[in-house]
Amino acid sequence: MSLNTHTTTAPADLSGSTHPGEVAPVVSLRGVAKRFRRADGSVANAIDGVSLDVLPGEFVVLLGPSGCGKTTLLRTIAGLERADEGTIDIHGGRVFDAARRIELPPEKRHLSMIFQSYALWPHLTVFDNIAYPLRSRGRRLSKSEVAEKVHDVMRLVGIGELGGQYPGQMSGGQQQRVALARALVDGGDLVLFDEPLSNVDAKVRESLRRELLDMQRSLGFAAIYVTHDQHEAMELAHRVAVMGGGKVRQLDAPARIYSEPTSRYVANFIGTTNEIPATVRAVDGGALVLDTPAGEAVGVAAAEGIGPGDEVVASFRPEYCRLGTAGEGNAWGGIVERVLFLGATTETVVRLGGTDQRIRVTTLGAADHVEGDDITVSVAAARVRVLPIADGEPA
Ligand SMILES: Nc1ncnc2c1ncn2[C@@H]1O[C@H](COP(=O)(O)OP(=O)(O)O)[C@@H](O)[C@H]1O
Ligand SMILES: [Mg+2]
Repeated sequence: MSLNTHTTTAPADLSGSTHPGEVAPVVSLRGVAKRFRRADGSVANAIDGVSLDVLPGEFVVLLGPSGCGKTTLLRTIAGLERADEGTIDIHGGRVFDAARRIELPPEKRHLSMIFQSYALWPHLTVFDNIAYPLRSRGRRLSKSEVAEKVHDVMRLVGIGELGGQYPGQMSGGQQQRVALARALVDGGDLVLFDEPLSNVDAKVRESLRRELLDMQRSLGFAAIYVTHDQHEAMELAHRVAVMGGGKVRQLDAPARIYSEPTSRYVANFIGTTNEIPATVRAVDGGALVLDTPAGEAVGVAAAEGIGPGDEVVASFRPEYCRLGTAGEGNAWGGIVERVLFLGATTETVVRLGGTDQRIRVTTLGAADHVEGDDITVSVAAARVRVLPIADGEPA
């Protein structure tokens, strides 16, 4: 098996419109909830009714701000925390069922976990680090069986020659491969990661991330990966589960999460977005006609059940906007308030005529407008997401 190639093992259908019924999921959560009692006696709903399927070979990232429940969800899947409600299936077998009091211990769940900084044993050789799970699970493997499994997996992750070295002598990339080898040595094809790269400096992190991506795509194990870093999530994931307040707020392919957010919470957590407060005036086929302080706007409903009279926001990305041309769709007049040349792009802030509403616009290269110019901002109606103004989550 060759590493460092972006080929093969694309899971069945990961376009974001998956039909999980067609492929048996590796992990299946239904209605999982976990509460903690705080020191002051109050209750924290760390996980609040999460249902999620992970398909074979799929890389799912749990993304969200600190405290939203990512680690708790991962530990609950691994069996390191006991959920209060719900069921967890792994490889089609029930490993947890709150109502029926089924709870398999972590070592019987056929998964591996990779923590921050990989948690390799510094006093053990690479070989012994990788052999550790084979020797510590009370399994009666012969010496030669252990050696064969360890050598096979070392070759698989491209560290065939390094068995005698100690982790402290190795580069970050090599250490990551040792951690992966240890996770995969026992034949498991489900690996859970809890922010493994968060202690690594930015440059190294980027290259480790690429390597991890290559290895996951070529080896084809299923992964659930926790991070608060949206770039990491976008780069690694087949699907991203954006979490907030213990819930999965949206589960979709990275491109969908970015361009078709279904709540203000998701639109604001990923990238930057413009928001114009508005009231729905009319429904016109697939489009919604809005009244805004800057005049009429047209967009598409991003959630079910939005109708006339509703308070909403029109949400759209800065790079979807055009300047100086009244193209199709929305066009508003305004005044250039700020121009920031950033090299590859220019950030322009436009204050819409007669309002306090500011729109941020990103264009390629240098701009030919200056502060104080009258200008037109336009954005296609299809690019404007009409989102409920309240979505039950502090943004
Ligand atoms: N052992 C615990 N006891 C009490 N509260 C906890 C415990 N572990 C986590 N929590 C709470 O549960 C929520 C989710 O925490 P966590 O899963 O660690 O979030 P994340 O990994 O997304 O930062 C937080 O409000 C946190 O304070
Ligand atoms: Mg955490």
